[in-house]
Amino acid sequence: MANNHNTILSFRALCVIIFILCAFSFISFLYWCHCSDSVPCYSRYQATEHKQNLNQPINLLTFPSAWNHLSFSSEPPAKLLKIALFVKKWPDKSHAGGLERHALTLHLALSKRGHELHIFTTFSSNSSFPRYPLRNLYFHLSKPTAAGFLDQASVWKQFQTQNSSGRPFDVVHTESVGLRHTRSRYLTNLAVSWHGIAYETIHSDIIQEILRPPKEQQAHALTERAMKVVEEVNFFPRYAHHVATSDHAGDVLKRIYMIPEERVHIILNGVDEEIFKPADAKGNEFKRKFGIPVSKLLVLGLAGRLVKDKGHSLMFEALREMFKENDTFRETSAVLVAGDGPWAARYRDLGVNVLVLGPLEQAQLARFYNAIDIFINPTLRAQGLDHTLLEAMLSGKPAMATRLASITGSVIVGTEIGYTFSPTVSSLKETLYRAWLDGRGVLQKKGQVAFQRGIELFTATKMAAAYERLFLCISDGGNKSDNYCQYHSPRY
Ligand SMILES: *[C@@H]1O[C@H](CO)[C@@H](O)[C@H](O)[C@H]1NC(C)=O
Ligand SMILES: *[C@@H]1O[C@H](CO)[C@@H](O)[C@H](O)[C@H]1NC(C)=O
Ligand SMILES: *[C@@H]1O[C@H](CO)[C@@H](O)[C@H](O)[C@H]1NC(C)=O
Ligand SMILES: *[C@@H]1O[C@H](CO)[C@@H](O)[C@H](O)[C@H]1NC(C)=O
Repeated sequence: MANNHNTILSFRALCVIIFILCAFSFISFLYWCHCSDSVPCYSRYQATEHKQNLNQPINLLTFPSAWNHLSFSSEPPAKLLKIALFVKKWPDKSHAGGLERHALTLHLALSKRGHELHIFTTFSSNSSFPRYPLRNLYFHLSKPTAAGFLDQASVWKQFQTQNSSGRPFDVVHTESVGLRHTRSRYLTNLAVSWHGIAYETIHSDIIQEILRPPKEQQAHALTERAMKVVEEVNFFPRYAHHVATSDHAGDVLKRIYMIPEERVHIILNGVDEEIFKPADAKGNEFKRKFGIPVSKLLVLGLAGRLVKDKGHSLMFEALREMFKENDTFRETSAVLVAGDGPWAARYRDLGVNVLVLGPLEQAQLARFYNAIDIFINPTLRAQGLDHTLLEAMLSGKPAMATRLASITGSVIVGTEIGYTFSPTVSSLKETLYRAWLDGRGVLQKKGQVAFQRGIELFTATKMAAAYERLFLCISDGGNKSDNYCQYHSPRY
C-alpha cells in the first residue's frame, strides 16, 4: 500500500515536471518566433528604447554619451555670451601642445560665432603675441609665476575688473587648472575641461615602468601617482561643471572621482575640418616632391614630438627589426616622419626608407596626411584625446595606435577604422605586419570609415557647437525658460 502510494506520488511528480518542461519550451518557442527573424531581441529592445528617447527631449546635463553624437544648429544662437577663458599659455601658430590647440580652435570658433571672448593668459617675453582680426576677442595678459602658471591673484583682479565693467560674465571656462580651485569654488557658471587626469596617467606610469631598461633606476612616478589621484578626487568637486575630452575620462570622473553625473559632460576634441580633409592630388604631389617611388606599396606616417613619451623608442625598435628581418617589407614600404625631437636623428639612421621632414606648418601637415596610407601614433601618454589621430581620420586615413582607453573608447573603436596594439615591440611589429599584408585596398576602405566617423564627431564645428550649448545651458543671468539644457532631436 505504502509502495503503491509512493508510485502514484512519483507519477504525479513526473507529470508536473513534464508539464513545466512543455510550458517552458512553448514559451521559448514563442520568444524564438518573435525575435529571430532578423534582429536579435536584445538589440530590437535597444532600438525601440533609443527611438523613444529621441522622441522625447533629452536633459543635456545628464546625457551619458559624448555630445558630439548630437546635432546642433549651425545658426548662431539668439543669445550671445560674454565668456571668460583661463588658459596657462596661448599658442603661437605651429607649436602647440594638445591643451593649447584645444583652447585656440574652440575659442576662435566661438568668437567667430559672435560671442564676446575674454582670454586670461600669460605673455612670453620671447615671442610676439599673435593678432586676430576679430573685434569681440580680448586678451588679458599677465606675468607667469616662476613655475609658468597663471598668477592667480593678478588674473582674478583682471577678471573682476572686466566682470564689473559693463556686462558681467555669463560663463567662465578654464582649460585644466588654469583657474585654480581656490578661485573656482564659488562660481556656478563655470566649466573646466580636463586634458589628462592623474587616474589616466597611471596607465602611462605602468607602461614606462615595464619598458624601463634594467640598468635605469626605478621611477617613483607610479607610487606617487596614486596619492595624486586622491588629491584630485578631493579638489575636483570645487569646479561646478566638468568637460571630459574622452568617453573614458567621463567614466572615470563619474565613477572614481565621484562627481555627480549632471556635472560631468563628455565633449570629444575636434580639429579644423577646413584644413584637414581628403585631397588625393595634394597627397600625390607631396609624395613626388619628397621622391617616394611608386614601388612603395605602403607609406606609413608618424607626426608630433619625437620623444620617448610618445612611443618613439618603441616605434624605432620595431622598424629597425622589421627592416633587418624582412627584405620584402623593407623594399615595399616607406615611413614619413613629421616633427622634431631626439628621435629624429635615430630615425634618419634607419636608412633611405625613413624620411624625417621636421616640423610642418598646418597646410603642409594636411598634405602629409594625404600622402600616407596609414597614420601611426605609438604614444605612451594615456592622457586627453590626441589631435593627430583626429586629423588623420578627417583626411580619410585609417589610424594605428596604442591600446589606451581614451583611444579604444572614443577614436579607434573597431577594426573597421584601424588597428591597436599593446605597447611592446612585439605587439607593434605584429600589427605593422598585419597592416602591410592587408595592403592599400583594405587600408583605403578603413580610411573611408574613419573619415565618416571623423566628420560626424571630430570637427571643430561640432566641438564648438557642443561647448556653446553647454555654456548657454549653465550661463548666469539665465532665463531657464529658454530651455538650452534640453535637446530635441532634429530628426523626429
Ligand atoms: C625664451 O627663449 C629661450 C631660448 O629660446 C628659452 O630657453 C626660454 O624658455 C624662453 N622663455 C619663455 C618665457 O618662453
Ligand atoms: C560678476 O558680476 C556679477 C554682477 O555684478 C556678480 O553678481 C557676480 O558675483 C560677479 N562675479 C564674480 C566672480 O565676482
Ligand atoms: C616578411 O613577412 C611576411 C609576413 O609576416 C612573410 O609572409 C614573408 O615571408 C616575410 N619575408 C621575408 C623575406 O622574411
Ligand atoms: C526668456 O526666454 C524666452 C524664450 O526664449 C523669451 O521669450 C523671454 O523673453 C526670455 N526672458 C528674458 C527675461 O530674457
